[in-house]
Amino acid sequence: MIDRLGRNITYLRISVTELCNLRCRYCMPAEGVCKKSHADMLTEDEMIQAVEAAASLGITKLRITGGEPLVKKNIVSICRRAAAVPGIREVCVTTNGLLLPELAVPLREAGVTRLNLSLDTLSPEKYAYITRVGRLGDFRAGFHAALNAGFQKIKLNAVLIGGFNDDEIVPLAELTRAYPVDMRFIEMMPMYDGGDFDSSAYIPYTKVLDALPEAVPVPGDGGVAKLYRLPGAQGNIGLISPVSAHFCGECNRVRLTADGKIKPCLHSGDEYALKGLNFDGMRAQLEKAIWNKPAWHGDLDALHRSQAGRNMNQIGG
Ligand code: GTP
Ligand code: 5AD
Ligand code: SF4
Repeated sequence: MIDRLGRNITYLRISVTELCNLRCRYCMPAEGVCKKSHADMLTEDEMIQAVEAAASLGITKLRITGGEPLVKKNIVSICRRAAAVPGIREVCVTTNGLLLPELAVPLREAGVTRLNLSLDTLSPEKYAYITRVGRLGDFRAGFHAALNAGFQKIKLNAVLIGGFNDDEIVPLAELTRAYPVDMRFIEMMPMYDGGDFDSSAYIPYTKVLDALPEAVPVPGDGGVAKLYRLPGAQGNIGLISPVSAHFCGECNRVRLTADGKIKPCLHSGDEYALKGLNFDGMRAQLEKAIWNKPAWHGDLDALHRSQAGRNMNQIGG
């Protein structure tokens, strides 16, 4: 469906849970999240009905997010049923990867075509620090399970954090020579709750290019990422710049939260409730949300935090 500014909305990101087995410092508080009442969350049937309503309005691509989507007990069933909805051409998942040793093959068999995995550092100590509770060895096991499961594409996401991983741009980028994966660097977005970082931790994507003088631009569609490639690499480097050079003019997406709210923009407080509605009711709410999608998210910096009204784990990125 075309929104009131002429953007063609074809991509729905569905956060299936706010819960996570990690506590990344830029995403959620140390104590985790206050678990919402089960009755307030969408059921599996409601999620699938929302996908059907979205597909009837022209959504063709789904991305399943969280929190951590793989902690959701019925995740394989959700992916299988979503992939079978007429009109849905692609089901992708964004995950921290820790549960992939058990789930990579079932997800692939359920029809998931592509995976994006979060990886901010290659140092076990720094991984434990940034995730507060995670072990890099567990990520590695999940990453290799994903490589072996035959997905069409695997992308790694690193959030750029000054003083934390800006000294690892080269080794992270080198992963595109060692493995058939894309490595993407994402500018840190100042979310609602503030997190553990002040404005000095924000670094613009241009710093990645400074660190990789060999990288050459790759024409083509990287979605929200500008693409580059290292000589001899198997995959691309992607630069995602929501802060320094927003991509709102070409935005093709809306979001569905685990508690059943359509968010037409990541950083806007606008929400349209779907919980408890039938197909026609959900379709009408989706239509309204898409039509009224905000033009852009406004400045994001230390003084202008996200107006999302939620932390990242409650939206799904
Ligand atoms: P593909 O293009 O399908 O690979 O996925 P993606 O880049 O849309 O998804 P992913 O879940 O890997 O998100 C990567 C980063 O982009 C995360 O930090 C997201 O928060 C950010 N992002 C995704 N969509 C938007 C958006 O609409 N606006 C902004 N500002 N950031 C976004
Ligand atoms: N800024 C940028 N990216 C973020 N992510 C989580 N929080 C932030 C933030 N504040 C990323 C995760 C994951 C993706 C879905 O969003 O690292 O890869
Ligand atoms: Fe969990 Fe992803 Fe947030 Fe990290 S960034 S705490 S893995 S939801």
